[in-house]
This record gives sequence, structure tokens and C-alpha cells, in this order.
Amino acid sequence: MSLKSYSDSVSKVWPLFTNIDVDYGEGIFLYDRKGKKYIDFTSGIGVTNTGHCHPRVVNAIKKQSEKLLHGQTTILYNSMIDELASSIKKILPDELNCMFFSNSGSEAVESAIKLVRHATGKPNIICFQGGYHGRSIGALSLTTAKSVYRSGYQPLMSGVFVSPHPYFKQHSNENSEQRVKHCLDELEHILNTQTSPEETAAMIIEPILGEGGYVVPPKSFIQGIRNICDKYNILLIFDEIQTGFGRTGKYFAFEHFKVKPDILVIAKGIASGLPLSGIVANKKLMDKWVTGSHGGTYAPNPLSIAAAVETIKVLEEEKLVHNSEDIGNYLLDKLQNIKNKHPNVIDVRGKGLMIGCELIEEDGQSGTYIAEKVRKNCLSKGLILLTCGPYNQVIRWIPPLTTKKSDIDRSLKIFEIALKQSLGR
Ligand SMILES: Cc1ncc(COP(=O)(O)O)c(C=O)c1O
Repeated sequence: MSLKSYSDSVSKVWPLFTNIDVDYGEGIFLYDRKGKKYIDFTSGIGVTNTGHCHPRVVNAIKKQSEKLLHGQTTILYNSMIDELASSIKKILPDELNCMFFSNSGSEAVESAIKLVRHATGKPNIICFQGGYHGRSIGALSLTTAKSVYRSGYQPLMSGVFVSPHPYFKQHSNENSEQRVKHCLDELEHILNTQTSPEETAAMIIEPILGEGGYVVPPKSFIQGIRNICDKYNILLIFDEIQTGFGRTGKYFAFEHFKVKPDILVIAKGIASGLPLSGIVANKKLMDKWVTGSHGGTYAPNPLSIAAAVETIKVLEEEKLVHNSEDIGNYLLDKLQNIKNKHPNVIDVRGKGLMIGCELIEEDGQSGTYIAEKVRKNCLSKGLILLTCGPYNQVIRWIPPLTTKKSDIDRSLKIFEIALKQSLGR
């Protein structure tokens, strides 16, 4: 199948992973302009957690669109912004009680970088191998998921130090607790040899790696990072842009680790597809940000706010976070069965409806080619999936949180046939 591309009037910088000329979406489905139906288990990269065009969210946007499309945040007081903050506060621990809003994930990461530098007066930030934090220069400087994101853009922002993550191969002869110890020792070593605690404003991590391979680290790793931050008075930022709003079977992934961040970065699932992002911190920390020193024209857009407030109500009232856990466990179990039958599937992992299925080639190399074949074979049968990981060797499942067991059964049938075809069996 040769893939379409956009016309010469559109930049080639966007790769195109499918040929779908999309017309509309409804729940877990997308329809092309000829009426062909697809199961969308990408959720637009973890965005449409309530499914495509959830009627309640659409209605809230429609109503708002007749009242106000843009109400610039520094020119006008708009009580909707307070309403949005209080809806988000309800699903967070008490300490995370003050918010700043922006449009995209990368912008929110930029805000976190700027806040920690301003608030602490310290310049440096430690990030972790395999992390993905966005494409703007600051966020990209913290991104080490794949070199394609960084190549040609260097030198990036200075003051960034990369610490190891227990997933990656240099520790592959160690067991999981040994790997954690090794990584935490390295982190301390970086503080001792490259960026002292007096110069280190913050550490940033995705508690569950997204683009980097859908990796759930051992609890002790995330807890260990929190302890080191506390020991040296360094702020801890969790980038929950992909893992937030029920994606992992909890409202936020940090709940799995029993560790709280000083700053939480949010986006994607917050507004069911409308652009909205933000950072959440304790008011004392947020108040260290000098008024007027950061901001932007658009955010938070009134349509996005209306969508977000309704999205949070839908998550709560339709018990979608519980559904994410329940259906996620079901999917994980079924994928384990597939793994047991197919030696090319070497790992199945995840939390809630954020599940990765790692593949390996016959010769033991990373499963880049098989994963791409499986993805394309699924696509030709009407199931849209994505890959991730440093070698694109992981098939990732990101279904809407509204997905039912019968939808999972249907897509697993497609997946297993696609897998067998890709392996030539
Ligand atoms: C964990 C994480 N951080 C940051 C980003 C960047 O967000 P955006 O693409 O909205 O700039 C993403 C996007 O995939 C992400 O998954």
C-alpha cells in the first residue's frame, strides 16, 4: 500500500501514517469520505479519551460558540477560567491547587521550564532517557525518545542533563531492582559531577513513558526520584500530557506510584480534542512566578474550556476512568495470551488503556519491520494503531476510554490475523 501525501502546498515535515481522508468521527470510529469505517485505537495520540465527538462535549462547544470565541485572558476576567480550575482541582490532591493554561503540550512544558527557573533562580533541569516532552526548542531539549526529533536542530537549550531510565538496554543483564538502583545511583552521580543541587531547578519525567515505548517503570524508580528531589530541594515535574485524564486507569498516572509531583503538566485528554494544556502546582510555588513574565494570546480558549469542563463531567458520570482500568486489564490479559503463542511478541505491558506490545525480529533485532507490517495489516482491515519506542518496535494501544469488551474482541481478532500475516504464518 503506497501512502498518500499532502499536496506541494503543504509542508512535507508531517509524515502521513495512513491514507484515510477523514470525514467524521463517532465514538471509537472514524469514517472516510467514501463512508469506510475504521476503529480508531490511536485516539488521535491519546486525545479523544471520551471518544470522537462525544455528544455532551459537542453540545457544550456548540453552546459556547454562540457566546464567545475568544476572550483574551489578560484583558478580560472570564469566570469560566475559574470554573475550569475548580473542575480540575476536584480530581487532584489538595496540594496541586493553582493552574496556568496554554494550548499545546509543548507549550505547557515550556511553562514548567520557565516556572521552575523563575521560582528557584536555578538554571538546570534533569530529564530521563526515552522521555518525550514536545517539539518546541525548550521541550525538545528534554526529549530523548528518538534522535529524529533532535537531528538538525542542535544545539538545543543548555542546562539540560539526561539521566538513565531502567527500561533501556545498557542494564539488560540486571534484574529490575538492580536496574533501578543503578539508575538512581547514576542520578546522584550526575548531581555530584555535572549539575549540583544548587544549580538544579527541577527534574522532569513521564511517570509512564509514552513515545519512548509505553514503559511502566518499577514503583521504586519513581519513588526514588521523588526522594532524591526532596533530599536536595529540587522540584519534581511529572509530564502527564499523555497519561492524564483517566488514560492509565486512574485520573493521573502518579497515583499508581503513590508519589506526587510539585508540578503536573496536562494536555491531550483534558478537552476531548480541542487545544488546551496547562501546568498545576501548589499556590505558594505558582505565586513565585512574576506577574506578566509569561503568557500568550489565545489560551485558554473559551471553546476549549467548555469542552474540558464537560469532558471532566463525562469522565466522572460515565465512570470512564474505571472503564479504562477494567477494559485495560481485559486487553492486557488477551494480549498476554497472544504473546504466549507468538515468540515475536516479547513484552506486553501498560496500565489502563495505555498498552504497549513490543515485537522482535526473527534474528533477535528490535521488531521495527514486523511492527510496521502489523500496523499496516491492521490498517487495511480497518483498525488504526500506532507504533512507538526508540526503534518503533512497540505497537501501542490507546483506545478511547469508552471502549467496550466487544470492541476489544473485534480488534484483537484483526490484530492476531495481522500479526500472523506479518510473520508469514
Ligand atoms: C508526554 C508528552 N509530553 C509532551 C507532548 C507534546 O505535546 P504537543 O504535541 O501537544 O506539543 C506529548 C505529545 O505527544 C506527550 O505525549
